[in-house]
Amino acid sequence: MAEQIGQLEAFNVREVNREDSKKIWEIRNHPLARKNFNNPEEIPWKNHESWFEKKYFSRADNHCFVLLNGEEKIVGYCRFDFDEEKNMYVVSIAINHNNQGKGLGNYLLSESLQRFASKKDILAEIRKGNIYSIRVFQKNNFRIYKEDARNYYLKYGSKEKFKKE
Ligand SMILES: CC(C)(COP(=O)(O)OP(=O)(O)OC[C@H]1O[C@@H](n2cnc3c(N)ncnc32)[C@H](O)[C@@H]1OP(=O)(O)O)[C@@H](O)C(=O)NCCC(=O)NCCS
Repeated sequence: MAEQIGQLEAFNVREVNREDSKKIWEIRNHPLARKNFNNPEEIPWKNHESWFEKKYFSRADNHCFVLLNGEEKIVGYCRFDFDEEKNMYVVSIAINHNNQGKGLGNYLLSESLQRFASKKDILAEIRKGNIYSIRVFQKNNFRIYKEDARNYYLKYGSKEKFKKE
């Protein structure tokens, strides 16, 4: 078991606000976080700013939740972005580097899934070496249904839903 943060009740999950943009950008751009993403490049602020606005504050079908600590500071985010081609949501999660390994990723994913409650499939694409992330998703009812040289592909939902592709 992870060394859990003593008081998870001090943490809170809510939908994202425009004002959260910078903090999300900082968490996303931490070198140890971005090495796990499909695009590991550092994202310039200007690009992030317009992307964030379009993604979560236009009519697009994308949803983002943030995790706040007891001082109302953002320590993580969980995004569900609709992929038209795949006809499913793709989930991406990150916890601020200083707060990883304390049970917060698990808490944020579980709370975000409860709030999001999508009827469409939710997909997670996880680098094979990212063991912590795989654990967090598996604990939250995601199952591996496909893999390639780089990634595992997990879908959210009951076992019966899955057939190996
Ligand atoms: C992946 C990520 C969201 C997980 O969140 P987290 O808060 O660090 O994970 P948790 O503390 O909830 O722990 C998850 C599991 O991994 C294990 N774990 C996490 N960090 C660990 C560490 N430093 N050492 C040993 N085990 C660790 C925990 O033991 C736990 O498993 P358990 O409950 O069976 O013991 C977070 O590490 C992160 O932001 N990583 C960078 C970005 C990323 O990889 N995102 C995922 C791509 S979709």
